[in-house]
Amino acid sequence: MAIVSSREIFKKALKEHYAVGAFNVNNMEIIQAITEAAKEEKAPLILQFSAGARKYAKQVYLMHLVKAAVEDTGLDIVLHLDHGEDFEICKSCIDGGFTSVMIDASKKPFEENVRLTKQVVDYAHPKGVVVEAELGRLQGVEDNISVTEKDAILVNPDEVKEFIDKTKCDSLAIAIGTSHGAYKFKTEPKLAFDRLSQVIEKVPNFPLVLHGASSVMPEYVKKCNEHGGKLPGAKGVPEDMISKAAKMNIAKVNIDTDLRLAMTSTIREEFDKDPGNFDPRKYLGPARDAIKQVVKHKLHVLGCAGKA
Ligand code: G3H
Ligand code: 13P
Ligand code: ZN
Repeated sequence: MAIVSSREIFKKALKEHYAVGAFNVNNMEIIQAITEAAKEEKAPLILQFSAGARKYAKQVYLMHLVKAAVEDTGLDIVLHLDHGEDFEICKSCIDGGFTSVMIDASKKPFEENVRLTKQVVDYAHPKGVVVEAELGRLQGVEDNISVTEKDAILVNPDEVKEFIDKTKCDSLAIAIGTSHGAYKFKTEPKLAFDRLSQVIEKVPNFPLVLHGASSVMPEYVKKCNEHGGKLPGAKGVPEDMISKAAKMNIAKVNIDTDLRLAMTSTIREEFDKDPGNFDPRKYLGPARDAIKQVVKHKLHVLGCAGKA
């Protein structure tokens, strides 16, 4: 039991055609829910902090909570920085004990993305830390956009090998039509599986990452809306598409929104049931249980239950 690297975990995931869940964490209840779910399902696990999570909870608290979860559950856990946008935040996480960082320079021109990713890799690798990078832009791809617009958003398969060769990054997030948050598609959900196949042809044994992979589970959207929430038209990636991607060299799948929805809808429901409830344990406890059920379910969708 330790905070571990994802290197071997990804090798096994690629070989056995499943994906590892990477769940965003912001507080104690979320960490407990996810780690208990992974323990019960015997699944490999990545916990990830965004810059926003570090700001909200402070890195030192989150680090100690993750260490406590390792001690409590006996799990091996990968500790990852999600969407590091510059060298400094990546360095701070590497120096602070993370085993994996993402440098997200996907909005920058290709050469600048290469330069920044390589700078992070050169700092991370001698310290045993692995690096995720990104190509393409995370944005929903609607039916009515042109081929040129599509090319500008989605990963360009012709750039992938050159990018990996030049940067020596350890995994690569690729844009294939997902986006962050609860509103991913205006019309029918669609992922560019053709692009994914083309990328796999160029780099057949390389771990790929899918961001924006929440399915925006309708039962939790409904529960939220039934208890005073307002999430009209929220729509995510259907879970059969996530399972399909997990069998196609997507070795890491990022999920945050589904946990937020489980938590918030449950807290709303508890307040509705008992407006006199002012004991945080009596609404955060049920919220933690709801997150745990969602994570257990997702681990089966990804195919990683039983793979630890
Ligand atoms: O990439 C987005 C994740 O859901 C993290 O979101 O930046 O609000 O913490 P956040
Ligand atoms: P969702 O918003 O779909 O959960 O995506 C989370 C994510 O990609 C975090 O990096
Ligand atoms: Zn993301």
